[in-house]
Amino acid sequence: MCLTNAAKPLSKSGKETPVLSASCRRLMASSVLPSLSFFFVFFTLYQLPLQAEAAAKAAPVVVGNISKVDDAELFHIYYGQSFKVIKNSVDGKSYLLMQSNSRMAVRTKYCTGRIKSFVVPLSNYSVDTTNFPVSFFELLGLLESLKGVTSEQITSECVLKSYVSGSIQLVSKTDMHQLSQFTAHFISNVEQQQACNFAAFIPLDERTPLQRAEWIKYLATFTNSELRANAVYDAVKENYMCLTKVAASLTTKFKPVVAWVDYSQGIWSFAKESYKLQYARDAGGENIDDTITDNSYNVSDPDDMDNFHAILCTVDVVIDQTYALQPAEYKLSTFLENIVVEDDSRFGFLTNQRLWRYDKRVYNSVIVDWFDGAISQPQLVLADLMEAFFPTGNYSTTYFRNLAKDEAVITIDPELCTRSPSTPMDPTIVHCQ
Ligand SMILES: *[C@@H]1O[C@H](CO)[C@@H](O)[C@H](O)[C@H]1NC(C)=O
Ligand SMILES: *[C@@H]1O[C@H](CO)[C@@H](O)[C@H](O)[C@H]1NC(C)=O
Ligand SMILES: *[C@@H]1O[C@H](CO)[C@@H](O)[C@H](O)[C@H]1NC(C)=O
Ligand SMILES: *[C@@H]1O[C@H](CO)[C@@H](O)[C@H](O)[C@H]1NC(C)=O
Repeated sequence: MCLTNAAKPLSKSGKETPVLSASCRRLMASSVLPSLSFFFVFFTLYQLPLQAEAAAKAAPVVVGNISKVDDAELFHIYYGQSFKVIKNSVDGKSYLLMQSNSRMAVRTKYCTGRIKSFVVPLSNYSVDTTNFPVSFFELLGLLESLKGVTSEQITSECVLKSYVSGSIQLVSKTDMHQLSQFTAHFISNVEQQQACNFAAFIPLDERTPLQRAEWIKYLATFTNSELRANAVYDAVKENYMCLTKVAASLTTKFKPVVAWVDYSQGIWSFAKESYKLQYARDAGGENIDDTITDNSYNVSDPDDMDNFHAILCTVDVVIDQTYALQPAEYKLSTFLENIVVEDDSRFGFLTNQRLWRYDKRVYNSVIVDWFDGAISQPQLVLADLMEAFFPTGNYSTTYFRNLAKDEAVITIDPELCTRSPSTPMDPTIVHCQ
């Protein structure tokens, strides 16, 4: 049956006692699709002897190391003795992960619209690098079994180093035959055509920075790395929460007003992604009001630009997230041209030098680490934003560069990887008193 520790707090010894959870029973009751029903009928039969035995001895069922999902909303993990099930509510699929030493692993294979099965731990895997944060694999220490990537547009020094040294091969994202040589192929775009070994990893759809980071536990189930995932997430979360507390104490009378702005095809607008607004709040800032962020401003329309300039005059910190083909070429002068301003003296965020971009770490002049490393380590983004909102001049930011000071980008260099691929990357913990 489905086992989870979600209903029980960890005991002092750190051991968990699994229980049949209400949500798991709901999961089983709602299995109306024929394939899904078959799946659970199979489970029920398979597990019956174990259940009877457990009831007779009243002994707790022993499962392996487990992860408990605390913050993320878009996936759940259920544990059995020799298997686990991830329910992914972004792609609507259940991933049945069977331990390689179980009888089930030999007999069972599912590849339907709603269920896929994998034998774990995975012996190797490949990644469709399009919008895919590979840094999660680094934190888990799994680079040794990463054998294929679909492009070298990656912002991790150590993945690039393995690629350059030949231990990771370049594969075509559409060549199903080539991709079938990997035990699993991880993707982030669930709209594409999928083979049986494709597994979706979609942290970006979550609402908050911590929820996105907790997807490390999702990946860890495929490799039995739950303990590592728990340790990483706990460290990241503790640091994030500590920084949030410090940020809350930094505000004097009024919080700094923050605007994430974006220029595209002649139009300025404000970003509304909830994780960005959450970052600004957690770093001690205040987001520009909802009633204003709905508007957009056409640079060819002088009235529009008057309105936009008026709003910018009220803002303390601006984050310019305008896409740049070559981030290094995006300078203060580019921003001023885009907002159609020659005289910058009337904007407080410019005179106070509080104009930032999140493209500080760049590979190959084009790929930005904001879309990878920043997702798995949100505590670093938070620390950057605190420096942006409450400058000390003492903190060296990771992802954000101060455009008002024309701060340059940092080029990611595979030579800077000093770890062996099998050594996990430790999360960077920011000093927090
Ligand atoms: C739990 O994790 C530890 C440390 O990674 C490992 O030694 C142990 O074999 C794991 N136990 C199970 C049942 O997977
Ligand atoms: C991946 O592992 C499977 C199963 O162990 C093996 O058959 C396959 O050759 C491996 N593929 C690569 C690219 O290493
Ligand atoms: C912006 O304004 C110009 C001039 O009025 C107009 O031609 C253009 O279509 C507008 N752009 C958009 C995206 O609405
Ligand atoms: C910078 O750091 C030093 C030593 O850590 C500290 O004494 C000083 O107050 C800091 N300066 C600012 C502006 O916070």
